[in-house]
Amino acid sequence: MVYSTLSMKNLLSIETLSKEEITELLDLGHRLKALRGKLQEQPLAGQSWGLIFSKSSTRTRVSFEVGIGELGGRALFLSTRDMQLGRGEPIKDTARVLGRMLHGAVIRTYAQQDVEDFSTYSGIPTINALTDSEHPCQILADLLTLEEIYGRGAWKDMKIAFLGDVDNNMGRSWMWAAKRLGFTLALAGPQQALPSEEILARLDAPNVICTTDAEEAVRGAMLINTDTWISMGQEDQKGSKEKAFFPYQVNRELLSAAATGHSVFHCLPAYRGYEITEDVLEAHSSVIFREAENRLHAQKAVLSILSRA
Ligand code: CP
Ligand code: NVA
Repeated sequence: MVYSTLSMKNLLSIETLSKEEITELLDLGHRLKALRGKLQEQPLAGQSWGLIFSKSSTRTRVSFEVGIGELGGRALFLSTRDMQLGRGEPIKDTARVLGRMLHGAVIRTYAQQDVEDFSTYSGIPTINALTDSEHPCQILADLLTLEEIYGRGAWKDMKIAFLGDVDNNMGRSWMWAAKRLGFTLALAGPQQALPSEEILARLDAPNVICTTDAEEAVRGAMLINTDTWISMGQEDQKGSKEKAFFPYQVNRELLSAAATGHSVFHCLPAYRGYEITEDVLEAHSSVIFREAENRLHAQKAVLSILSRA
């Protein structure tokens, strides 16, 4: 049996996953990657899944459209620019309509609450394809990539660093992954970008360390992560944010403090000369583009499990 018998209704966040669910999804992702193109069973046969996107996307859109197709399903890309949702129709009405037609939904939007409301009102399996609060699909792909490089469960004793806009959707999902899996996560960014006391209290994870010292975060880290300083929807903050973030740029000098054999991850798209230098991105490009490819395999694992919900 290749597919998993794990029972899950939605993928709304890393926060709401258990360690067992994460490791089962990773194991299935590895199997589906190894067996790509070789499996007869199509868990999404006869199913139609909607991709409801309010923000731009290259990797997420294509990996979901391809993944749904490879699992035997049909993907409908629905930009909110074209939907009545974009003209003000409430989420709860859209969800109640689409829940009667679709078998599942993949949503990229701003508010986490919108994805949660869609799930509640539609009653169909719902996947968070990025909100302002979390990017769970990317974290699953990143953990899959990390295990490919360093071995299954290798995150257990690892120090992982995340630099820059650490309280964004990627940073938050890494925080919850650290909470669930127990690895050390060092977050480094300017004071105003560090997670609030309220978030840290909710997280309640002593293995998540916050600092304004980039070198302290990178020292001894095996994985160094970064992401854009200006997430989608924050374009108006470009001028005011950038200056404070330059000390957290992932560059060659900073990486000299990292562990021997370290990797650099970037979820992409990357802004060279800002959060990462051109030479570092190119030196680590085989891993960074593997992260992008692994979106497909990790999400096929999620889709195949949710297809039974
Ligand atoms: N990493 C990621 O989610 O990329 P896209 O915005 O291109 O989907
Ligand atoms: N933090 C980024 C991730 C892009 C995949 C954003 O939200 O724009």
